[in-house]
Amino acid sequence: VQIAILGTGSVGQTLAARLADLDHQVTLGTRDPATTLARTGPDRYGTPAVADFLAAQPQVRLAAFGDAATGADLIINATHGEASAAALRAAGADQLTGTVVLDVTNPLDTTNGYPPTLWVKDTDSLAEQLQREFPGVRLVKALNTMNCALMVDPGQLAGGDHSVLVCGDDPDAKALVVEVLRSFGWRDIIDLGDLTAARGTEMYVALWVRLFPVVGGAGQFNIKVVR
Ligand SMILES: NC(=O)c1ccc[n+]([C@@H]2O[C@H](COP(=O)([O-])OP(=O)(O)OC[C@H]3O[C@@H](n4cnc5c(N)ncnc54)[C@H](OP(=O)(O)O)[C@@H]3O)[C@@H](O)[C@H]2O)c1
Repeated sequence: VQIAILGTGSVGQTLAARLADLDHQVTLGTRDPATTLARTGPDRYGTPAVADFLAAQPQVRLAAFGDAATGADLIINATHGEASAAALRAAGADQLTGTVVLDVTNPLDTTNGYPPTLWVKDTDSLAEQLQREFPGVRLVKALNTMNCALMVDPGQLAGGDHSVLVCGDDPDAKALVVEVLRSFGWRDIIDLGDLTAARGTEMYVALWVRLFPVVGGAGQFNIKVVR
């Protein structure tokens, strides 16, 4: 499968490495490849510079958002929440029509330090805002409720016995995303229904940021929904 990952941060890099390992054709999307390649790292969170990441993952390509999205069977939005609409615009609304977009972002406002607040919540969500602006996109929200190492490898924790939440308006799009999640090792995949459920999964992050300093472990924790 040809996969475009919009976003070159820790999430984009982690997803890219895992999907390339699973033999997908992966392109990382960025604003300007030359500027991105010129960065030296790691950044203050320890994420490698993109040039170093690509040197270690030669099967992953880097391209501008629009080029990355061309011909992709699946697009993953792993951009900064406030920049996601701009990134999808740069990817080209027309060519996104009909494409499945897995949205892993969170609407975090970090201007007042830690913990961040959410700039949309309760009566709307970032996922719904993006779906409204790009009505032709088949948007699925998932994976935003945990750190990126766990997203791609749930087996790192509790033998993989914990939960991932999925929602979206298009059943076939959700089925494609569920297939990808299973390939990562997810077994407890909970379909919350339509995209309005993203209000719940994005607001959960307000709890995640309170758990993080207490539970610690570099963010290696998740929820298990016990029935
Ligand atoms: N870190 C985690 O473990 C984690 C867990 C769950 C969810 N999330 C969510 O996943 C997303 C990605 O997180 P991250 O930490 O990997 O990266 P990030 O720093 O939040 O975002 C980096 C990406 O956003 C793009 N970007 C920034 N400003 C932009 C603008 N004005 N226009 C267009 N694009 C812009 C950057 O483009 P360039 O490549 O051009 O610089 C880069 O690719 C976020 O929404 C975050 O909340 C993160």
